Amino acid sequence: MIIDCRCNDPKFDPNTYASVEDDGQRSVMSLKTLFSRALYSSLKYGVLASGKRLSAREAGAAVLGRTAARGYYSAGRPGACGAAHVRVVDLRSDTVTKPGPAMRQAMAEAEVGDDVMGEDPTVNELQKLAADIFGMEAALFVPSGTMSNLIAVMVHCRERGNEMIVGDLSHLHIYEQGGSAQLAGVHATTVTTLPDGTFDLEQLESKIRHGYPDPHYPRSRLICVENTHNIQGGRVLPLAFLQEVRALADRYGLSVHMDGARVMNAAVAQGVPLSTILQHTHTVSVCLSKGLGSPVGTMLAGPQAFISGAVRCRKALGGGMRQAGVLAAAGKLSLQDMIGRLEDDHRNAKTFALALRECDPSLFAVDMAAVETNILRFRLEQPSLTPKEFCARMAAVSEEEEAVLGQGIQVLMYPHFGNSVRAVWHLGITAEDTQLAIQKMQFVASQHLKENVRAQ
Ligand SMILES: Cc1ncc(COP(=O)(O)O)c(C=O)c1O
Repeated sequence: MIIDCRCNDPKFDPNTYASVEDDGQRSVMSLKTLFSRALYSSLKYGVLASGKRLSAREAGAAVLGRTAARGYYSAGRPGACGAAHVRVVDLRSDTVTKPGPAMRQAMAEAEVGDDVMGEDPTVNELQKLAADIFGMEAALFVPSGTMSNLIAVMVHCRERGNEMIVGDLSHLHIYEQGGSAQLAGVHATTVTTLPDGTFDLEQLESKIRHGYPDPHYPRSRLICVENTHNIQGGRVLPLAFLQEVRALADRYGLSVHMDGARVMNAAVAQGVPLSTILQHTHTVSVCLSKGLGSPVGTMLAGPQAFISGAVRCRKALGGGMRQAGVLAAAGKLSLQDMIGRLEDDHRNAKTFALALRECDPSLFAVDMAAVETNILRFRLEQPSLTPKEFCARMAAVSEEEEAVLGQGIQVLMYPHFGNSVRAVWHLGITAEDTQLAIQKMQFVASQHLKENVRAQ
């Protein structure tokens, strides 16, 4: 759990709100609720001896399992309060980026119209631009990656009793609330996601149903792949794998949809045009709001007939936006100017990964060959420091740290699947920020060593 308490900002009323993130789920709650939670966990873990009212800072620290008395504090939410001498390096996700001046200006100056009537010139330009870059017939601007994937499933699996095949660790399967079942009535069967984001092709083939029209079975219609693979740490799907998946799909008359939320990262890592990757898929969903830096938006692309169906589904799901050119202007900039900079994120992620490997004391396990793009996944080797505890220490700032490092450095990252930690690079993180994160990681590691020695 990461807890951000906007505590010291004089413009902010600390009795009103705090924002709490729990495993990616964000909710804004009254500080009263936060206090109750903090108090409960404090009492549970014996941190507080009495029921004294906690300051927001103490509440944050207490939920992180620390007290201000020990000299630790939560340095606040990125961009909000935090002491002036605390630097925040937010590696939680590439979705936290904020549009810069050029993007804001493009948004302010966008020509707009009613996009549900097909009359927003900026949206139309964005859709044309995306289709050209992707090498697809047509593209559609949709509000989010989740809606884009759902629309794709709805259009590919139109009839009742249709089924899709998805990786068991795919975003579509894990993080989209089962929307394809909940809202579209589409049944899913899973294949095992391998560590590199691929599937075993024999297993994939074994999941294709051959019974149609036997009334016992659903009818296989769609294979979904994810590129780059989020949970597996930004892994890039090999082109040969995609080619084989497509050949299998063609053999059985299935479609291939790619959740390509970060497929631009894959293209940059492989040094190929996006169309080289997408030639193996029928449709793709590409997020503008991750490494490409837009505040909102995803492009869904495919054949014209598919996009015509997608327009209908988008409207039914409430995703028909009116003067959306204000957002599409940002999307155009993402596609025109932001692809080249993804290389920086990949380089910074590798730099941090190398530092983890070289850290003394040795606490981390990193497979350098698996660090291909902007998402880094690593494990902690000693049971005495769990991913949750490590993330909490990276996020907390102590007076000792300020004395040793000359400033407080708050590094935000998430505990992740399989006892690992996930860190994600994006346009808000420079090479200098990466060095700060390395300093903090080394500080946390040496503190841990000291505590271990003391305990022996
Ligand atoms: C691989 C993948 N697909 C889809 C999505 C969903 O995108 P959105 O948050 O825009 O709904 C994400 C979000 O992180 C993702 O990582």
